Amino acid sequence: VSALLARTGDPIAAIDTPALVLDLDVFERNLASMAAWAAARTIRLRPHAKAHKSAAIAQWQVAAGAIGVCVQKLSEAEALIEASCASGSCLDDVYISNEIVDPGKLARLGHLVVGSPSLKLSVAVDSGLGIDRLAAALTAVGCLERVAVVVEIDVGQGRCGVQPTQAGGLARQVVSHGLRFAGLQAYHGKAQHLRSAAEREMAARHAAQMARAAQASVTAVGVSCPFITGGGTGTFYFDAATGVFNELQPGSYLFMDADYERNELPSGVPRFEQSLFVKAQVISRGVSHAVVDAGHKSHAIESGMPRVLDRDLEFRTGGDEHGLLHPRLVEAPKGTGAVRAGDPLPQIGDAIWLVPGHCDPTVNLHNHYICVRGGLDHGVVERVIPVDARGCSS
Ligand SMILES: Cc1ncc(COP(=O)(O)O)c(C=O)c1O
Repeated sequence: VSALLARTGDPIAAIDTPALVLDLDVFERNLASMAAWAAARTIRLRPHAKAHKSAAIAQWQVAAGAIGVCVQKLSEAEALIEASCASGSCLDDVYISNEIVDPGKLARLGHLVVGSPSLKLSVAVDSGLGIDRLAAALTAVGCLERVAVVVEIDVGQGRCGVQPTQAGGLARQVVSHGLRFAGLQAYHGKAQHLRSAAEREMAARHAAQMARAAQASVTAVGVSCPFITGGGTGTFYFDAATGVFNELQPGSYLFMDADYERNELPSGVPRFEQSLFVKAQVISRGVSHAVVDAGHKSHAIESGMPRVLDRDLEFRTGGDEHGLLHPRLVEAPKGTGAVRAGDPLPQIGDAIWLVPGHCDPTVNLHNHYICVRGGLDHGVVERVIPVDARGCSS
């Protein structure tokens, strides 16, 4: 289907809409900037592939120095490993940074390991039941020691993870099964989008303290715990500064989005630019609005509406297949009501570039990235790459 959206060599103007477009020049700067930042420190980078769901992008991250990638779901791991092997270069170090408790899924995990002899797989756990079932599934296929187990602690997000004092008990249970205990996950999702740098720094420091407490709980039961992973695009520099983390797992930095753009950045940290866009087209004009052909089936809105690139227009929801562009309204002096501001409305047929509110779920709505070189005004389609793990949510 997306082969019809664009072909290699097409000019930007020829990309059909709505399309997920990746500005390769910006993307490569983001990729290199994070890789250089991590290389300058003694910290491992394991970017989160939940953001891009692409084997090719994961391979580029590894080529740029990443130790491997994280995924959030077993089916993401399966899809990315299969697609990478099909391209001739298997991803060989994958961490499922999430809990899997279903026996059927755990059996699949066992088969994945058995079928990929060079794969290093690790997985998060936060319950005794999860550990027992993981051990049973791996014992059934005779590869108990092939999977590294990471105990997740809740460091403030209120999602998965045990309290730090419970980490020791779970680590002991992991080891007692003959499973390999790798360390701890201390990821704080809510902290990533706190707007002020001071708030994010405070949350990151708190997460680090909790991780240290969990580490003490593990060593107290006689299990060695040298490894802690966590961090995201909003806090990785604060996480690194705590000295607690050995590995960081940011994902969105490659693309950025309208939500992350709103974060206040401290000085001296890498600045990532917007590289991911939805190209849309005006298909109708009213007196006070224009209508584009990109609605919620083209971009996720749970973190806010898209920003209209380079135009002072407000994007309002027009439903599944439509978006409404309105001139921005500003308050007129002394109660005379709101007046129009911003750019004039675009004409029917005009291309409109949208900065998605949230990159990860936006990617999951598309089959392909249309990758362009030379910018969004005069660039050319350099390649089209599949979103290999699109829809892999199980
Ligand atoms: C466990 C985990 N690690 C890392 C990330 C990456 O976060 P970000 O895309 O904000 O960098 C996420 C994102 O939700 C996550 O759930």
